[in-house]
Amino acid sequence: MQAYEIELRGERATRKAGQILGELLRQQPTGKRDFVLALEGELGAGKTTFIRGLAKGLGIRSKITSPSFLVAKRYTIPSARTRRRSFGLRPQDDGKGRVFWHFDFYRLERPTQRDLELLNFHQILSDLHTIVAIEWAERAMHSLPEKRLTLRFTTLNSRARKLIVSE
Ligand SMILES: Nc1ncnc2c1ncn2[C@@H]1O[C@H](COP(=O)(O)OP(=O)(O)OP(=O)(O)O)[C@@H](O)[C@H]1O
Ligand SMILES: [Mg+2]
Repeated sequence: MQAYEIELRGERATRKAGQILGELLRQQPTGKRDFVLALEGELGAGKTTFIRGLAKGLGIRSKITSPSFLVAKRYTIPSARTRRRSFGLRPQDDGKGRVFWHFDFYRLERPTQRDLELLNFHQILSDLHTIVAIEWAERAMHSLPEKRLTLRFTTLNSRARKLIVSE
């Protein structure tokens, strides 16, 4: 298993790393494979900050707020055609709108199958037009698809974080 490790010096670096990944995902053809991002790491390690950058890279304009109380939030990804005009990207949209889901399992501690059912978790994960990012993904480890990108954040000190990306 290949893993990439980077040091993120300051909040901006965390945001930027998320934005770059968002831009990459945004350009992938939709409907062929799912994109599940499992974000792990202790309180304050930078998961939400990364997701804010990710959403920006995906072209989402609305503010990403922590879904801690709601557990899950849904955002619409603007169509590639709209972006093509303004950013010169090739259209990768097959007409079906893409959606970004932000989950945060902090408040569930150990999500049960019933919790996941109520959240429609498995259905959302299996939708090929959806990009899903999960904070505290380690709490739902056994319910995650095998094909996922794991982003593990660690606090190095008050001014830096470490990010390990693995498949
Ligand atoms: N690379 C970094 N260096 C220093 N501070 C950072 C870095 N990345 C993020 N931060 C800061 O760390 C704090 C916590 O970040 P964030 O809310 O993203 O963490 P989190 O992992 O989502 O925490 P929680 O588990 O509570 O949801 C924020 O104040 C953010 O600005
Ligand atoms: Mg958070």
